[in-house]
Amino acid sequence: MADRFQLLRESIRNLRNTGSIARSSRYLCQAIVQKIDPKKTKVVVELGPGDGVITQYILDRIGPDARLFVFEINDVFIEHLKVAFANEPRLVLIHDSATEMERYFETYAVEKVDYFVSGIPFVMLPEALTLDITTKCRNWLRAGGMFIQFHYSPLLIPLYRRVFGNTDTDFIPLNLPPALVITCTV
Ligand SMILES: C[S@@+](CC[C@H](N)C(=O)[O-])C[C@H]1O[C@@H](n2cnc3c(N)ncnc32)[C@H](O)[C@@H]1O
Repeated sequence: MADRFQLLRESIRNLRNTGSIARSSRYLCQAIVQKIDPKKTKVVVELGPGDGVITQYILDRIGPDARLFVFEINDVFIEHLKVAFANEPRLVLIHDSATEMERYFETYAVEKVDYFVSGIPFVMLPEALTLDITTKCRNWLRAGGMFIQFHYSPLLIPLYRRVFGNTDTDFIPLNLPPALVITCTV
């Protein structure tokens, strides 16, 4: 399993894709998973888990029969996640981009998704890529399902409004840097 220093080095080396060098605080993780209603949850999909700090909170939140699918493109993070969560039968780790989600949903017979939790730094990525991934999320969410994204700026709120038709924003000051949790419900 990669140590803290290796994970930090990986975040810095790939800053464009990771978007930050500090992992999310427990206040941010808690604010995100509070949105998840465990009673209504069969499938959660996490996009861009990094070292898995939010992944653990999601697993602690969901029930024994729920499944968590995780998409991560970074080789070092995915190897770390494989070891860190080796004993977690509810977790499916996918070493691929979130753009490819549909292929995997077919393979794993996923019909609908209850929650998407995303840490992908869309602010730093091309708009076409953001629109591609977020539109796929909207199409796969069940009625009443949620797309939950954290950011360090409100720049993309108008884009999320365009895609999902609504946004709700919580400010989390106790994070480095302070963060926004943007929630869109379908
Ligand atoms: C800000 S980090 C998230 C870190 C962690 N979730 C946290 O809260 O501290 C963003 C992650 O998104 C991943 N990522 C970027 N583009 C992606 C894509 N298209 N598909 C899947 N993962 C992606 C990066 O490799 C990186 O690990």
